[in-house]
Amino acid sequence: MSDVQELHERIRQLEAKNRELTLLVESTHELNKASLTDHPFSINVIQSLVLALDSRDPYTAGHSSRVALYSLWIARKLGVDEEECKHFHRAALMHDIGKIGVPDRILLKADSLNEEEFAVMASHTVIGARILSKMEPEGRMIQATEVAKYHHEKMDGSGYPERLVGDRIPFYARIVAVADAFDAMTTDRPYAKGRSFQEGIKELVRCKGTHFDPRVVDAFESVMKERRFMISSSSSVYSEVNE
Ligand SMILES: [Fe+2]
Repeated sequence: MSDVQELHERIRQLEAKNRELTLLVESTHELNKASLTDHPFSINVIQSLVLALDSRDPYTAGHSSRVALYSLWIARKLGVDEEECKHFHRAALMHDIGKIGVPDRILLKADSLNEEEFAVMASHTVIGARILSKMEPEGRMIQATEVAKYHHEKMDGSGYPERLVGDRIPFYARIVAVADAFDAMTTDRPYAKGRSFQEGIKELVRCKGTHFDPRVVDAFESVMKERRFMISSSSSVYSEVNE
């Protein structure tokens, strides 16, 4: 790699870090300003659970916060009332909590997973649902449980764990599915560079109706435009103009 290429790569990495931190700050801000009287967990408990998960896998650290924030933006765009949005933000934060039950050799594996390993990884959905369903109050935990269990379902029925089709996938899980996939695509991994935000949105649009709920993708696309995530065509450079 030439000096100039190295410099460009360094700039790209710093911009990605800046983006991550900006999103983390906003996610924390949203949590802190939302005081809930009937939620079973304090913010600290949720953040500790998520931190426990993030500390298992440094490459996905921050993933839960970003997915929760994107999910919150989408829910607001789709007209979910603010009180419900606050609960949903917490539910989305815990979407991958079942990964606590996935062994390191699979969770941290850099190569692709074989069939048996994939099945273990996929079980994080039911493990998460089991953990969350035990929490009180039961009624309030239904949403978080459904999000954990069904956020890997696909509209065409090819997802897991139950291969649900279309509207049979709970609404909030359909939102998290979009936010989750977008973050996975746009984050650097040890073995692959993340795509730009623009490319990430393009991929979501390409998979509308098969993988993702078209209404949710449309909402996310317009949120990203409104929030003025500006992406250059040549790199993943972006900037956000705060309103
Ligand atoms: Fe997941």
